[in-house]
Amino acid sequence: MTGADLDRVTELEPVLFGAGAWSRDAYDSELTRSDRHYVVVEAQDRRVVAYAGIALAPESTIMTIGVDPQFRRRGLARLMLAELIARARSVSAEAVFLEVRLHDEGAQALYTSFGFVPLGVRRRYYQPEGADALVMRLPLDGPHRRRPGPVGSEAIEE
Ligand SMILES: CC(C)(COP(=O)(O)OP(=O)(O)OC[C@H]1O[C@@H](n2cnc3c(N)ncnc32)[C@H](O)[C@@H]1OP(=O)(O)O)[C@@H](O)C(=O)NCCC(=O)NCCS
Repeated sequence: MTGADLDRVTELEPVLFGAGAWSRDAYDSELTRSDRHYVVVEAQDRRVVAYAGIALAPESTIMTIGVDPQFRRRGLARLMLAELIARARSVSAEAVFLEVRLHDEGAQALYTSFGFVPLGVRRRYYQPEGADALVMRLPLDGPHRRRPGPVGSEAIEE
């Protein structure tokens, strides 16, 4: 995602997230950060039809993921999630976290298929509507840990 995508992204935001839509300023600020990775999917006419982003850290967080309603159930969310998780692995993240609406069983099925497991519930997480969030976590390998080997030998990488 670049600044050039933001007209379309901010047009889709209220369609996908209602009153919880992020502003253009919020996206501008996200895109300036080097610890973020945002992706878009374009249709054949180059229109953005899906987008997603991650905050990269030892405990990385999926910031957003959304697909134009006309383009759902074609694997676009799966494609973007795979890319974001690969990026988290590339910085040796230990885990990826996300929040999902407690009653959004479709999205939870997507995350479960990647190995995310439920951690707990954050009450009234989504404002202004006050919906509850389920926090999910995907464990990754994290940085290669060095195990001390026998004296005089090379350390073994796990
Ligand atoms: C959740 C969302 C991103 C899924 O996008 P998508 O591109 O349709 O998802 P995919 O096609 O990649 O789906 C992959 C799998 O997830 C599951 N899944 C996705 N949406 C589902 C739904 N509505 N009902 C049941 N399962 C669903 C299925 O297992 C699906 O595999 P299948 O189609 O082979 O059965 C999309 O519905 C969306 O944008 N929702 C509104 C925005 C939102 O709430 N985003 C945040 C979610 S935390």
